[in-house]
Order: sequence, then C-alpha cells, then structure tokens
Amino acid sequence: MSVTLNTGASMPLIGLGTWKSAPNEAGNAVACALTECGYRHIDCAAAYGNEKEVGAALAGVFNEGKVRREDVFITSKLWNIGHKREAVRPACEATLRDLGLEYLDLYLMHWGMATSDSHWAIDKNGVLALEPVSVRETWEAMEELVSAGLVKAIGVANFSVAQLIDLLSYAKVKPAMNQIEMHPYLQQSRRVEFCQYRGIAVTAYSPLGSPGNKRPDLPELLADETVKKIALSHAKTPAQILLRWGMQRQTVVIPKSTHEGRIRENIGVFDFELSTSEMTEIAALDRKLRFVDPYEWGKIAYFD
Ligand code: A2P
Repeated sequence: MSVTLNTGASMPLIGLGTWKSAPNEAGNAVACALTECGYRHIDCAAAYGNEKEVGAALAGVFNEGKVRREDVFITSKLWNIGHKREAVRPACEATLRDLGLEYLDLYLMHWGMATSDSHWAIDKNGVLALEPVSVRETWEAMEELVSAGLVKAIGVANFSVAQLIDLLSYAKVKPAMNQIEMHPYLQQSRRVEFCQYRGIAVTAYSPLGSPGNKRPDLPELLADETVKKIALSHAKTPAQILLRWGMQRQTVVIPKSTHEGRIRENIGVFDFELSTSEMTEIAALDRKLRFVDPYEWGKIAYFD
C-alpha cells in the first residue's frame, strides 16, 4: 500500500520512525526493518541525533545487495536552526553525508519556526529563543534543493491549515507532504481533508499515541478499551489496529520501535481490514489530545 505524492513518486504507507531511537539502537532497527521485516520506508531527521548510525546501517544493507537504495523511500527533516537561506543547503548536505546518501526522497521543514543556532535554545525565562526568519525564505531555499537534485520532494511538518494557505500562495514547488502528530485521540480530520484535497499527502507521527514520550498523567492509547476490543475481534494487537486505521485514511504512518518483535508486529497490517463501522467507532474516540507540544519544551504555544 502506498500513496502517490504530487511529484508522481510513490511512498509506502508505513515506514519505520526513528525519533527517540537511541544512536546505539537506531542502526540495528533500520537494518532489521529493511532486511528482516519488509519495510521500504525510513523516516529520519537531523534533530533525532542518530542519522550517522542510521547511515551506517543503510550502507551495510545496500552494500550487501539485499535491498537497493532506489527501492527505499527515505525522508529527513531540516531542523529549526538551519532556516536561514544560506543555511538550508549545508544542513541538507550534512544530513546526506550522515545518511550516506546521494539524495533524499523527501525533505521536510521540521517546524514552521526558526530558532537560534544551538539545538533547542531556551532563554533565562525558559522560553524558546526564536529567530526572525520567514517560512518563505526557508521554503525558497528548499525549492533549490529540488532543482539541485539533492532531494526528490519537499514538504513540511507540524503545519496548520493557516500556515499551508500562506505557503501555497507563493510556493513554486508545492509541498508534497505535511507530517503531523495523528492518532485516534488527535484525528484532525478537517486538516487531513484540506491537505488531501490540495494534493498534499499527510504522514501521522506518533501513530501509537507516543508511548515513549507520553506524560504519565495522559491516557494510554494502546490501552484504549475500544481499540483493544477491535484488536481482539481481528486477532491483532492494538498497535496494528491503530496503524491500519491510519492507513485506511490514506495517511502514512511511521511507528518507531527499536525492538525486532515490535518492528515486525507493526508492519503486520496487510492481512486484515477495518470495516466501515469499526472506522466509525474509532472516529468517535477523538479527544483532540496532543502528546507532542513545544509549549512543554519552551513555552511556545505553537498549536494554540
Ligand atoms: P520501543 O522502541 O521500545 O519498541 P510512536 O511511534 O507513537 O511515538 O510510538 C513509539 C513508542 O511506542 C516507542 O516507545 C516504542 O517503544 C513503542 N512501541 C512501538 N511499537 C509498539 C508496539 N507494537 N506495541 C507497544 N509499544 C510499541
């Protein structure tokens, strides 16, 4: 199962996420996903701090000849400190070097905000320090990466509809993707509708409800009674139900795991289908609950 991007390229609907994969585990996870479990899509980012290890694993897999580079869809993301016009290409080149690749299939602007040049600079009041760089300046520099052949497609992440409307007003290369947090507790159906209507594919990050990042006081999506009931009736796991739900909405899902059993479990979603009534039952679970919010890291009310 795949989605066709507005570039004509085909992107597998499921990929391996690497956010919070420790550097010493990320490489094994990527190699296992590609060679043992049938994944053909890896989602990376400079900010995850593990692209060198992912790159070493990719080199091993490609050199062995088990999987060809052109058969794997690889995404990475421009971090907030690289938004100035002159910083965009060097940031992309650094990612390509770390990943050991000649090109990326997709390069995303990780957030629609620029920050100063230390990774996540917080001022004395605990507030994230923002830099005055417009999204337009960054996007225009990203468009040049396409013409230079460094990336096949460009897109954004964490963009609202309002941010996209502005971007679409000047983009010469239309965004191919908006990658956002999405799962049954944060469905954002109207945002998905806006994107898909305009040919912008949507990727769901934290599709399992971000169990590795979740505050203990927030509910556990994998333990939701409705999800568990549907899982039981298909002899599947709750994780498989959540991923299949995302894929049946034609959204790409990128579950992260560094454990072989779960990496394998998460791609076991092709031998069953959720019925219309099950999709409706899951639709009723929406509670607009966000697990990933920059307000918690730097008091930026990005999503308000
Ligand atoms: P681990 O890497 O130890 O397997 P999300 O993609 O929603 O952010 O979820 C990722 C988190 O969920 C990670 O902490 C990961 O842990 C865990 N995880 C991944 N797959 C499964 C699964 N099939 N069942 C339960 N937890 C999972």
